[in-house]
Amino acid sequence: MSIERIGVVGGGLMGSGIAEVNARAGLSVVVVEVTEDAATAAHGRIESSLQRAVDRGKLSETDRDAALDAINVTTDLNALADRQLVVEAASEKESVKLDLFTRIGQILQDPDAILASNTSSIPIVKLGAASGRADRVMGVHFFNPAPVMKLVELIPSLTTSDKTLDRMRGYVSETLGKQPIDATDRAGFIVNSLLVPYLLSAIRMYEAGYASAKDIDNGMVLGCGHPMGPLALSDLIGLDTIKAIGESMYEEFKEPLYSPPPLLDRMVDAGLLGKKSGQGFYPYP
Ligand code: NAI
Repeated sequence: MSIERIGVVGGGLMGSGIAEVNARAGLSVVVVEVTEDAATAAHGRIESSLQRAVDRGKLSETDRDAALDAINVTTDLNALADRQLVVEAASEKESVKLDLFTRIGQILQDPDAILASNTSSIPIVKLGAASGRADRVMGVHFFNPAPVMKLVELIPSLTTSDKTLDRMRGYVSETLGKQPIDATDRAGFIVNSLLVPYLLSAIRMYEAGYASAKDIDNGMVLGCGHPMGPLALSDLIGLDTIKAIGESMYEEFKEPLYSPPPLLDRMVDAGLLGKKSGQGFYPYP
């Protein structure tokens, strides 16, 4: 029972990338956003990312047009009714996701439809309970930028059925051609449990005046061979998202290294969210 019709809720950084990946794999995609402006922005993000792929010689113009034709961006959650899979990629706020899972759980018509979340840190088991169809809910965590990164973490909760996990494993590896890894339903899963304390440590180091942003980043790029330093990577991920993930991880484990430092709080309060807002640790004119 292969998946041919997918919904993506939230067309931000991740949702637009997930929509693109699915459309390029030949699936029909409905993207749901909150406002008309956000829907227009989501469509624009998908269009320019596809164009970049064409410019780099990774995608033909015909395939770009076919992918764009396969994507319908809307503000109507009811447009998800006939979907076989919905990947929720709305903002990392538990109240927003719980509300979405309750509503989407009632909208989906196909009894086999799977409702997945791209959350980085919110308990999957809670989303399952809110949906009223907990056996068909799990975490499917893509990485940024989704069209480029090969990895997807699969996170079944205590209530996810084996059938749901098997279907999602097949979808990720065969339909999308990505590499799944299995993680446990604990805030941060595998990658963020290791990555977030590292990013927060770099922010603390900068906050303490220990070194400049450039030198901290150069240290890890040139000294450790990382493709990008921790502050540039924080800007790319989005400082609001890192703060939210750190808070969820701290709430779960009470580990001080997971707690967002004051500078991160203040930058988020000031709207300095990184690349997506035009300014973070670096400017993005
Ligand atoms: P973002 O802030 O770029 O996008 C979130 C989008 O959700 C916005 O466009 C917003 O308008 C939309 N939204 C909010 N409430 C909504 C609702 N009720 N219905 C429909 N749309 C709604 O955030 P980003 O970075 O795309 O993150 C989305 C999710 O992906 C979060 O759960 C985050 O933890 C996760 N994630 C983020 C990664 C990153 O590198 N930024 C990597 C992997 C996962």
